[in-house]
Amino acid sequence: MMKSYDNTLVVGVSQFGLDNNIILPVKIDFSSVPHLIIVAPSGSGKTYLLTFLLGQIAKKPVKLILADFKGIDFTEFDGCKDYYKHSDIAKALDYVFEELQKRMEEPKKDNQPIYFCVDEWSGFLCSLTTKKEQDSFKQKMASILMLGRGVNIFVIMSLQRADSAYITGRDNFGNAVGLGALSKESIAMLFNDDKELIHPKIRGKGYLKTDGKSLSEIVVPKIRDIAKLKEIIKTALLK
Ligand SMILES: Nc1ncnc2c1ncn2[C@@H]1O[C@H](COP(=O)(O)OP(=O)(O)OP(=O)(O)O)[C@@H](O)[C@H]1O
Ligand SMILES: [Mg+2]
Repeated sequence: MMKSYDNTLVVGVSQFGLDNNIILPVKIDFSSVPHLIIVAPSGSGKTYLLTFLLGQIAKKPVKLILADFKGIDFTEFDGCKDYYKHSDIAKALDYVFEELQKRMEEPKKDNQPIYFCVDEWSGFLCSLTTKKEQDSFKQKMASILMLGRGVNIFVIMSLQRADSAYITGRDNFGNAVGLGALSKESIAMLFNDDKELIHPKIRGKGYLKTDGKSLSEIVVPKIRDIAKLKEIIKTALLK
């Protein structure tokens, strides 16, 4: 029998719900609308939201790959097979790109999903010394974003600013979250059709736009036991 995987994730709770005293989870579903870009100025909660998502992914029967450019927030994952930091992000990207090519050559409908999560993609690109190198990694990422859904490879990436220097465009990300006080450029890239609706927010609060749906205002919930959640993520990264 063909396996079907559940690729839904909760990105937060609805501000509209909270205003009406109800807790409404806000979900995205990569099977229909793939990939997620998370943009927020420093300290506005990108890594925190990513940790919340990693905890959910870790409980799924999927392959989780975490690429963490800074290497500060996830030190407990040091030594895990599927945890890459600093310049090793290049190795993670090469691995996912090769997997994409293999899956494209031998199409199957029930590939085990791969979730490729990258914290601080822009930091990684900036660390590369030549433009040629940057373009090569940007191109690989663009291919994964364009072709990934058909072979169950999904990307979640965070950046401080949405900028065409780092991503080829918003188009291949079906889902975009912006948190905190976003710059004009980030608003234009992520939420252009709704830009009048975007206001500066505090850390952990912001907006989700999913292709084909209206903009929603979201709050990233407080993680009750972060140490426990990180244990669950660690187990998945060791698999
Ligand atoms: N939704 C939230 N609820 C409670 N605390 C939060 C929330 N989001 C972020 N924080 C706290 O705010 C601080 C900054 O968050 P975080 O590290 O996720 O920001 P960031 O956007 O990744 O920053 P940087 O760009 O510097 O990496 C952390 O101490 C984190 O625990
Ligand atoms: Mg961070």
